[in-house]
Amino acid sequence: MATRSNLVLGIESSCDDTAAAVVAGGREVLSSVVDSQAALHAGWGGVVPEIASRSHLESIPNVVARALEEAGVGLDDLAGIAVTQRPGLIGSLLVGLSYAKALAFARDLPLVGVHHIEAHVYAATMEWPTQAPDPTIALVVSGGHTALYEMRGPRSMTPIASTLDDAAGEAFDKVAFLLGLAYPGGPSVSKLALEGDPKAIRFPRYRAKDGRPGFSFSGLKTAVLYHLRGGDALAPTPAPEAIPDRADVAASFQAAVVDNLLRPTLQAAQERSARSILVAGGVAANRALRAAMQAAGETHGLDVRFPSPAYCTDNAVMIAGLGWHSLAAGEHAGWSLDASPR
Ligand code: KG4
Ligand code: ZN
Repeated sequence: MATRSNLVLGIESSCDDTAAAVVAGGREVLSSVVDSQAALHAGWGGVVPEIASRSHLESIPNVVARALEEAGVGLDDLAGIAVTQRPGLIGSLLVGLSYAKALAFARDLPLVGVHHIEAHVYAATMEWPTQAPDPTIALVVSGGHTALYEMRGPRSMTPIASTLDDAAGEAFDKVAFLLGLAYPGGPSVSKLALEGDPKAIRFPRYRAKDGRPGFSFSGLKTAVLYHLRGGDALAPTPAPEAIPDRADVAASFQAAVVDNLLRPTLQAAQERSARSILVAGGVAANRALRAAMQAAGETHGLDVRFPSPAYCTDNAVMIAGLGWHSLAAGEHAGWSLDASPR
């Protein structure tokens, strides 16, 4: 139940969504406002950092005001403010962090910095009536991150592996751009993939040289580009309308991404005797990935869980939710709290 002492305002601005939310006791969502900048970045096929930070600056006062209004609370009703502190685009992070600091300072409220990736994982756990059996392997897969963690409880995360180069979501965005599809690329590529054959083109699957669980997507992106150029690396890239097998490319690319995410996750689960798998972040909304993970979970006796789609992509509910636990544990950030890209 929402009481004055358990209301947390969350603020998120690490990438291209300006978001604010009020959450009670780390679980009960009173409001969630997400102002997406997707249309501003669409023409570039990816997030332009300078445009992102300027846009955060313009929209943050309104987004925070709406979150408070929709929750029916004022700043003085809050137990504290939680803000994304890392990782992300530094100019974008600074907007949310500075705004949160100013509010906290003006109203004498405790402030905590939240790790964006840990918050994505927390978002997945927020909706569960019961905890997943420990240990859990968490796969966080978004536009900026592709990483595996071992979890024991919602706040204990040990890193296992992280992508060597690009994130899976970024690969979706770049391939969408090559195919002339809308940004963000994940939803548009997966929609076109429904019309294609996932086995039409055998795009490469990544395996780490040392045999450890690991991720890499830059080779796959290049393979798609060279395929579109008819196998000639130096040939010009065709216009999207001139690509005869667009749906097959989308389906075959998506199948390669799913394999590249599935194999290391299952390997880590096996090595660490995990009992459950959690998939979080924007790419967790992908239906093909969800289906493949569920099927693998059934085969290997693992409890596989995903957040509902609204909590897969960036939001401030996850920041307020996880921030509540830090505040409840007595953690407070000082005024020297700074943003960090990593
Ligand atoms: O977590 P998120 O909202 O922001 C970051 O922290 O990056 O993730 C955004 C990423 C984008 O790259 C987008 O293309 C991808 O998630 N995405 C998807 C889907 N929905 C969003 N990727 C594949 N399939 C989807 N359905
Ligand atoms: Zn994210």
